[in-house]
Amino acid sequence: MSIPYLRAAGTSLVLDARGTGVPVIVHWGADLGDLTDAMLTTLADASVPSIAPSSIDVPLRLTLLPTLAQGWSGRPGISGFRPGRGGSAIDLRLVGVRSGERPTGRFALPGTQTLTLLLADAAAQISVRTDLEISVQGVLRLRHTVTNTSTTAGDAAFELGSLDVILPVPGRAGELLDFTGLWTHERRPQRSTLGHGVWSRESRHGRPGHDDSYLMVAGTPGFGFRSGEVWCTHLAWSGDKRAWAENSPLGFSVLGSGELLAPGELGVAAGASYSTPWTVAVYSDAGLDGLSARLHPWIRSWSTIRTPRPVVLNTWEAVYFEHDLPTLARLADAGAQTGVERFVLDDGWFTGRRDDRRALGDWFVDPVTWPSGLHPLIEHVHAAGLDFGLWVEPEMVSLDSEVARAHPEWVLGGVPEPSATETPALTWRFQRVLDLSHPEAFAWVFARLTALLTEYPIAYLKWDHNRDLLAGSAHRQTAALYSLIDAVRATHPGIEIESCASGGARIDLGILERVDRVWTSDTNDPLERQQIQRYTGVLVPPEYLGGHLGAATAHTTGRTSELSFRLATALFGAAGIEWNLVSASAEELGQITEWITHYKRLRPLLHSGVVVRADPSDPALVLHGVVSRDQDSALFAQVALAAPRDAVPERMRFPGLAPERRYRVTPLLLGGSPRTIQDTPPAWHAALGGLTAASTTVADAASGGGAVTLTGAVLALVGLPAPLLAPEQAALFAVDAVD
Ligand code: DGJ
Repeated sequence: MSIPYLRAAGTSLVLDARGTGVPVIVHWGADLGDLTDAMLTTLADASVPSIAPSSIDVPLRLTLLPTLAQGWSGRPGISGFRPGRGGSAIDLRLVGVRSGERPTGRFALPGTQTLTLLLADAAAQISVRTDLEISVQGVLRLRHTVTNTSTTAGDAAFELGSLDVILPVPGRAGELLDFTGLWTHERRPQRSTLGHGVWSRESRHGRPGHDDSYLMVAGTPGFGFRSGEVWCTHLAWSGDKRAWAENSPLGFSVLGSGELLAPGELGVAAGASYSTPWTVAVYSDAGLDGLSARLHPWIRSWSTIRTPRPVVLNTWEAVYFEHDLPTLARLADAGAQTGVERFVLDDGWFTGRRDDRRALGDWFVDPVTWPSGLHPLIEHVHAAGLDFGLWVEPEMVSLDSEVARAHPEWVLGGVPEPSATETPALTWRFQRVLDLSHPEAFAWVFARLTALLTEYPIAYLKWDHNRDLLAGSAHRQTAALYSLIDAVRATHPGIEIESCASGGARIDLGILERVDRVWTSDTNDPLERQQIQRYTGVLVPPEYLGGHLGAATAHTTGRTSELSFRLATALFGAAGIEWNLVSASAEELGQITEWITHYKRLRPLLHSGVVVRADPSDPALVLHGVVSRDQDSALFAQVALAAPRDAVPERMRFPGLAPERRYRVTPLLLGGSPRTIQDTPPAWHAALGGLTAASTTVADAASGGGAVTLTGAVLALVGLPAPLLAPEQAALFAVDAVD
């Protein structure tokens, strides 16, 4: 136990917990195999580095909570002070090691190994408990809990500056990948070389933000979806946070992550504790797909979402604020005819909400538009065979609302008297934030939500969050948000929740624990969506990722896309529609109906299989797919994002199939044929009637008549000639084992 060794599924973690110092991280990465205690001791001894010139007089080793007192001059693992006691360095000592404690709640997963380290600094009067877990999929979770151990009555709180999880990566992991983005353009990858210093990504949005770093990945140079060693961290937290990579001239590279605390935001009173969010850390020797191959099954092992995920029809881009019963009833009918299963009434249903300038917080059904409440609409929706969902934005308040007028003290940051000369706090989308840490505000919004859920048969809430907090209280607000969702779920256990934050500004594992779907982005433009879904999906499994078929001309970009491209893009997630179907042509409605039929047939595969992404050398091309866990079947998409580099594109290589098994490959046409720029398709397409054949029917897809049959190894290593797709086109291929 003095050299704890956690290992699972090709990953291992070795600590040196001998003596009373903070345990040293000897290794995090590839599995080291069976090691006896003697070998572990040898490994720990042999890992002690040399003493650097002009440095401390003992070897510097990276511990789980590095601080100045250990000679660590990089970002510390913990910082804080007690007012009036000066700035002495925190110097923790190991006082206990425990293993085998059972994780709690949904994380009490079979096979999870746990380790708890107990540390204390008697002079600073704090203790720290560090929890480590490794799941059977090789996913590590780590967090620290600091306790103020002072017993002196009236003693000042310990003002916590930072408490972070810091993990080492080897020097060869010299390339970084993290993410940035904008509204409707989330999860833009950015790569950099890790030089000396800190590459730090910080969110002060009160939510992760559209530019959320999301994952901090360090890898061997050139790592891709299918290749390279990668080490990755993610903070399971929906408020302010920071994630960084640091490389010091002393030969250490680390990944760090933790909650970003505002000065004075977190005073830990005598006897009280603060736990960091969990850092989720994953290693893979098979590129980014290797990360997903651990993360998706792990998330699925604790996920409580119900399958199959219903096809959603959301009213937002269909009608915006133009709500009336006949219009919405016609929309629901059109959706029902195509096979939609859930109707979601978006923003605009509550008192006086005719635009985005007012009424947030007044969670009463608008009596003018809905004199009999929402009952007639819900009855209509139910009669059409759909269930009903409702949009809410519980954390927000409009100043032009009854609730803000009655309770200005519930508005985060306050509302000045009209006569006051002071500058009012900034609005954002004309709205302010409801201070959920105010007990009465919390109680009131909880009461309104539960009243709606009690009065109406609501299956689903779309829970939106459309502004940054811009206040130094993100910790309280985020903790209160979690409590609010947990309380709503406790009183209405059947409710499903979709998390939305102006699209994808709050997608993290903290919120994912509490919801059934995330709204991946406010853009329904398939070209933008291809990239957003591809990278959001490294962490989040596809069954959570809401993706909607929008109108031909995307509302957010003005770009026009063909139906086949829009359908192929929205297929690979939790699919839905956000388009005024009443204006769709009969041909389009027929194609949408066929798409939904295929989606329903394919969703067991798409929502449980292994996500794979190839690395075509032409950056204009993307190939992605989902392979069933038993490797019996798969669905792939070859996508042209832009004009091709080569007149004869490189072969499509299909990863993830069983090498020895034989597979039938069949083009699947949805919404018409994708446009190609070639006169003659590849021979193997021509043999099947090419990509210009009439739409493949469900029966054709199931029988796969006349398809090409090759082994998984051939399909992965040699591949098949690709169609020369015109820009912004996607070709789908169903792959089914025949042996
Ligand atoms: C932002 C969301 O992301 C949209 O989907 C929509 O729900 C609007 N808010 C409604 O105001």
